[in-house]
Amino acid sequence: MRIDAITIFPEIFNVLDVSLLGKAREAGLLNFTAHNLRDFTTDVHRTVDDSPYGGGAGMVMKPEPWALALESVLPGEATDTADEDPSLPLLIIPTPSGHVFNQQLARALSHEKQLVFACGRYEGIDERVYEWASDKFRVLPVSLGDYVLNGGEVAVLAMIEAIGRLIPGVVGNPESLVEESHEDGLLEYPVYTKPSTWRDLEVPEVLLSGNHGKIARFRREAQLTRTAQRRPELILDIDPATTNRKDRDL
Ligand code: ADE
Repeated sequence: MRIDAITIFPEIFNVLDVSLLGKAREAGLLNFTAHNLRDFTTDVHRTVDDSPYGGGAGMVMKPEPWALALESVLPGEATDTADEDPSLPLLIIPTPSGHVFNQQLARALSHEKQLVFACGRYEGIDERVYEWASDKFRVLPVSLGDYVLNGGEVAVLAMIEAIGRLIPGVVGNPESLVEESHEDGLLEYPVYTKPSTWRDLEVPEVLLSGNHGKIARFRREAQLTRTAQRRPELILDIDPATTNRKDRDL
């Protein structure tokens, strides 16, 4: 997968050199580039912002550097097809006013050929950029959650990690992706390792029994209890007869 991030702080993305995603990049599974928006300015001060029309606090990102930067990451000649054309690269705008990012969206995005992230700072990017971009990209505003970060970069790092680890070959044992929180709509069950007694605390006996049916039932119950306690709104999606999520066939 090709991923481009446009930002005024490309160095924030240096962390993608390490760990599993660093290895995935070395192996050619992930082709990631951070582009400095200031490289697409034309004045000596490399200005990327200006005061907002209509007044108000803060600064707004100027449209022209964004247009030039976005043009530079287009795969070839842009088509003039409608914005739902799946062959167009997906332009993701990290913003607290976007669609909320979750595991289902991460999985859908992991099948894309190219993702472009436009990391805004200050009060945001001139709105006309999105209109201009809509015949070259499919444009998707995405929020990490209901809180405000100083810019999109940290949100994009989280999204790249969540998406990148779903690309086949990135995580060594694909089975470890199956029983994770949110994959089946529930939170993950608790896990334990040796020793079976640690500082007077015991591992639940059923896990030492070797009875796989009992262990599976114990884990399912633990998932349901934990989800009900921590994320009661997710339980509403669970079919009581099967304990599966209503929209999943697990
Ligand atoms: N930029 C600032 N806050 C954000 C958030 N919550 N999610 C995504 N991008 C953001």
